[in-house]
Amino acid sequence: MNPLLDRLQPYPFERLRQLFAGVCANPAYRPISLGIGEPKHPTPAFIAQALNQSATRVPSGLSGYPATAGESALRAAFTVWLKSRYKLELDPATQVLPVNGSREALFALAQTVVDPGTAARNGANAIVPLVICPNPFYQIYEGAALLAGAQPWFVAADPARNFAQDWDSVPDAVWARTQLLFVCSPGNPTGAVMPLTEWEKLFALSDRYGFVIASDECYSEIYFRDEPPLGALEAAAKLGRGDFRNLMSFTSLSKRSNVPGMRSGFVAGDARLIEHFLLYRTYHGSAMSPVVQAASIAAWADEDHVVANRALYREKFARVTPILASVMDVALPDAGFYLWANIDRSDTDFARELFALYNVTVLPGSYLAREAHGVNPGAQRIRMALVAESAECEEAAQRIVQFVKTRTS
Ligand SMILES: Cc1ncc(COP(=O)(O)O)c(C=O)c1O
Repeated sequence: MNPLLDRLQPYPFERLRQLFAGVCANPAYRPISLGIGEPKHPTPAFIAQALNQSATRVPSGLSGYPATAGESALRAAFTVWLKSRYKLELDPATQVLPVNGSREALFALAQTVVDPGTAARNGANAIVPLVICPNPFYQIYEGAALLAGAQPWFVAADPARNFAQDWDSVPDAVWARTQLLFVCSPGNPTGAVMPLTEWEKLFALSDRYGFVIASDECYSEIYFRDEPPLGALEAAAKLGRGDFRNLMSFTSLSKRSNVPGMRSGFVAGDARLIEHFLLYRTYHGSAMSPVVQAASIAAWADEDHVVANRALYREKFARVTPILASVMDVALPDAGFYLWANIDRSDTDFARELFALYNVTVLPGSYLAREAHGVNPGAQRIRMALVAESAECEEAAQRIVQFVKTRTS
């Protein structure tokens, strides 16, 4: 077996299952889960129809092997969307690629980019390559780094600066060993959008040290401010980096179009990275099913359902956030579908007792972060995914208020 597999951490939901093992949830309440960040709004009918039509057409979309690069109509759908969303002109032949959801792509990019030989070649003076991750973070970044033969280096989000990462805290010697850096903007779990000044700083560091930036933007279409979130490629273009050197963005239909089961997204950016990524993906066998390609083309071409979906989240967050803010330190995020609350006590105790007394599931923040440089920035925090319909989320919030009041009275 690959010994690197032993370095993978249990997934947060596995840890949650263990935390709740043997706990009996109060049967007086029906269960409500704010634990898993899985979209629950219905899938638009036209997307399912496009999928069905492609599968049942003659000859069927299923009758041939797809190309890893995707059909040209799909790549054109990506670039048309990038133009309308970010006013960017990308070459559909060289600067975009379909992926089967951003999760696999984030993982695969690390395998493409990281040079595990850095350690092997240096023998006794082994220099293990580093992959910089935000903290808290989406756990795939860590697993991707470890299986690529690198070590993750965590940079904590600072609650006092809208959860911005303190890039200045990273020593030069760490930057010098960094081969890949993950950005998550809008962030999971913080919902924070990274501003242009931070991008400028990261681009300068990437130029200096040569690392690749992977920008995970899968929550980009669910936002609560007037301005849509700034994208990495958009930031690069604004700063005169039209070739997107060493930069790749990851965009997904899962949250935008409520199709997490379809597994569809795309990457865009530096043509040199895309070329190597295509090579890696060809061997890995990561081509997108033609029926998914057909449905994806339909989904990317329509914005009406995205606007309606965003409106549902906005209404839900506007109702639920003030209820929770009456008993805990929580605020409307820039974007995403999570509330990341400070609770000033053990997050695991809070989650377990809330589940036992009120049958509401929330995720302990410490499960979404690592203790690094002396702190776990998720400790004493909980993540609440407002994915269920509004009334259910509101009921969960009311129960949490009751829970907090009874614990503090
Ligand atoms: C931050 C982040 N990135 C990526 C993903 C993966 O999304 P998908 O593979 O559905 O595109 C998720 C899923 O929850 C996520 O929270």
